[in-house]
Amino acid sequence: MFVSFEGIEGAGKSTVMETLAAYLTAHGLDPVLTREPGGCALGRSLRSLLLDARIRGLSSRAELFLFLADRAQHVAEVVRPALEAGQIVLCDRYTDSTLAYQGYGRGLDTEYLRRLNDAATGGLAPDLTLLLDLPVRCGLGRAGERNRNKGLLVSEGRFDNESLDFHERVRRGYRALAEEEPERFAIIDAAQPPEDVALQCRSALEAHLSRRGKGLE
Ligand code: TYD
Repeated sequence: MFVSFEGIEGAGKSTVMETLAAYLTAHGLDPVLTREPGGCALGRSLRSLLLDARIRGLSSRAELFLFLADRAQHVAEVVRPALEAGQIVLCDRYTDSTLAYQGYGRGLDTEYLRRLNDAATGGLAPDLTLLLDLPVRCGLGRAGERNRNKGLLVSEGRFDNESLDFHERVRRGYRALAEEEPERFAIIDAAQPPEDVALQCRSALEAHLSRRGKGLE
């Protein structure tokens, strides 16, 4: 089963993913935790380029193709093999990030982006997408705090430094995507304390598994 986690900066995806992975492991499963960009060796190099606040003037299309290159390699090297081995893959960001950020955020055509996502992934879509939704100011506040705690890493900056309006468009984009595909998406209220967010994610995952007749032991 393939689960993706989406949301604006500071939504708390990585914390929730770790809690969920520990929960699945306790139930005898062997989840794979991965992320985009940067879930494979090529992707780690691309990630440092993509997030580097010192890189100025990167065109929206060049940015898009770097994310797609990361995705194509990540699917081939990590996601597909794990799914074929029967593992549950928990992925921090996937195709919906491209639709939300490059589409709704940067203004590229979303139908064009869908075709490119399909080309990069060979049509591999998540079974379930957990959208961690929260007000932009709240998310950016958390992301800023995280960066300060890390000692102000410039490499975390390129998207964190985008305008409030950009992040509002990304958030609205995510919500529109969730409305278009209610079967695949679960919207999680990520403004809650981390334990409650993790609990909501767990319930959504369990509901999805039981709909497929695969409840946890
Ligand atoms: P990351 O540090 O992983 O963000 P977060 O911790 O908030 O998840 O940085 C990834 C950034 O890349 C994030 O701002 C979203 C952006 N992104 C895109 O614009 N398009 C994409 O397709 C992907 C995967 C990420």
